[in-house]
Amino acid sequence: MSQVRRAVCPGSYDPPTIGHLDVIRRTAGLFDEVYVAILVNPRKQGLFDVDERVEMLREITADLPGVVVESFSGLVVDYCRERGAQTLVKGLRGATDYDYELPMAHMNRHLTGVETLFLPGAPGQVYVSSSLVKEVARGGGDVSSFLPPAVHTRLMERLT
Ligand code: PNS
Repeated sequence: MSQVRRAVCPGSYDPPTIGHLDVIRRTAGLFDEVYVAILVNPRKQGLFDVDERVEMLREITADLPGVVVESFSGLVVDYCRERGAQTLVKGLRGATDYDYELPMAHMNRHLTGVETLFLPGAPGQVYVSSSLVKEVARGGGDVSSFLPPAVHTRLMERLT
């Protein structure tokens, strides 16, 4: 019997963007099961709490078979082990992401052998990040083309 191919897409997702959703969707096309894992980081207060991020991600991935959304704390490699996942998948928007992600990919492989796959970010979204979206939205700019509609609605509610 062949092994179930499981991937983990870890991140802060504060909030999830169309770029994040694109990576999750493409990962779901490559693996049998995808775990979208939201880091619980007690040192970083987000705009949305982790339960809200779980809710948003469940809503926007509801049409994707095999996708499970959860929060995790501690090391991502331990989360991968608990879920039986052999691969981490991350989106790469450009060289800055690469410089940030490469040491983590090496470290994670060193720790447990888990591999990291990088997917090129969707061309129209490479300059978009959760932090930039929040900053622009706080200033009154239109960020609706960067967020799934359900997330955009929540962001507007949070900022008014
Ligand atoms: O969306 P982000 O903030 O770029 O995601 C970063 C994240 C959550 C993927 C990364 O910080 C992470 O994996 N944190 C979990 C703790 C851990 O395993 N750290 C060591 C990585 S080598």
